[in-house]
Amino acid sequence: MTSAAQTNIDTLKKALGETFRLYVQTHGYHWNVEGPNFRQLHNVFEEQYRNLWNALDEIAERIRILGAHAPGSVADLMALAGEEAAPAQSADDMTAKLIDAHEALAATLRDGIAAAGEAGDEVSAGLLTDRLEWHEKELWMMKACKR
Ligand SMILES: [Fe+2]
Repeated sequence: MTSAAQTNIDTLKKALGETFRLYVQTHGYHWNVEGPNFRQLHNVFEEQYRNLWNALDEIAERIRILGAHAPGSVADLMALAGEEAAPAQSADDMTAKLIDAHEALAATLRDGIAAAGEAGDEVSAGLLTDRLEWHEKELWMMKACKR
């Protein structure tokens, strides 16, 4: 395997780990959010965690298609995911922490799109571009709520 192909797989694994961590974080906020915007946020977080859950399968199976094993334990996924956010203190804090996590993941996805391009892997570049499009739209909507 070339180093470009390895970097491509490594970045896909990092995107998988970060997506897993954000999935757990978002589902937890869906359960625990409180306050006057409860119903709206409870529903938004559900839409987000469902999207993230489906993305996990797509990214992991792309890793398999490229001939590598997908990280398949909580420990392996969390080791790829970076630092866990501190517990959120309020609904506004949950939104702020999600904005940070989506921005970090968007940066990983941009690295992944570049790595896929270097490796000549248009399909992974397309998958990661679709993921980035979704995260950018969620970021816009979450930031618009804070103004
Ligand atoms: Fe629920």
